[in-house]
Amino acid sequence: MSIRKDDITQQWYFDIEDYIISETDGSGIITYANQGFCEIAGYNIDELLGQPHNIVRHPDMPKIAFKGLWDDVKNKGFWTGYVKNTRKDGGFYWVYATVMRKIDSSGKSSYLSVRVPVLRNVTEQYKEIYAKLRDKE
Ligand SMILES: Cc1cc2nc3c(=O)[nH]c(=O)nc-3n(C[C@H](O)[C@H](O)[C@H](O)COP(=O)(O)O)c2cc1C
Repeated sequence: MSIRKDDITQQWYFDIEDYIISETDGSGIITYANQGFCEIAGYNIDELLGQPHNIVRHPDMPKIAFKGLWDDVKNKGFWTGYVKNTRKDGGFYWVYATVMRKIDSSGKSSYLSVRVPVLRNVTEQYKEIYAKLRDKE
């Protein structure tokens, strides 16, 4: 995997081949993260396991986006959307995430997210959409 950083903006980029995967338990605590997730977020796996997933939350993200995520994965079983995340070193990266619910044989829910890169013009669009939503909040 080759990740790149824009030194001026501190935005980090990954490639379309690099799947960024994480899993959580029913309450959003990280139970798995692949190597790609660790690299783009700038953490070791040990620093992520057992932590709430908002460890990568970026302050530019509106609350309503995550309300939508949780409502949809709980009620519909999946959610897709654009997310700006924070790295451990303070940099950031954008992802297009597909979050899904998994239900085990005992009926217990857990969640899985697979992420791909976002086209630059889409990032620009969502920057504005999320800024407006945050203003309202
Ligand atoms: C599988 C899964 C993946 C998630 N991935 C992210 C993520 O990459 N970034 C993020 O900010 N929140 C992610 N969340 C949502 C967080 O659990 C949390 O709701 C969000 O960061 C907002 O934090 P807050 O509820 O403390 O305000 C994910 C949730 C699930 C279930």
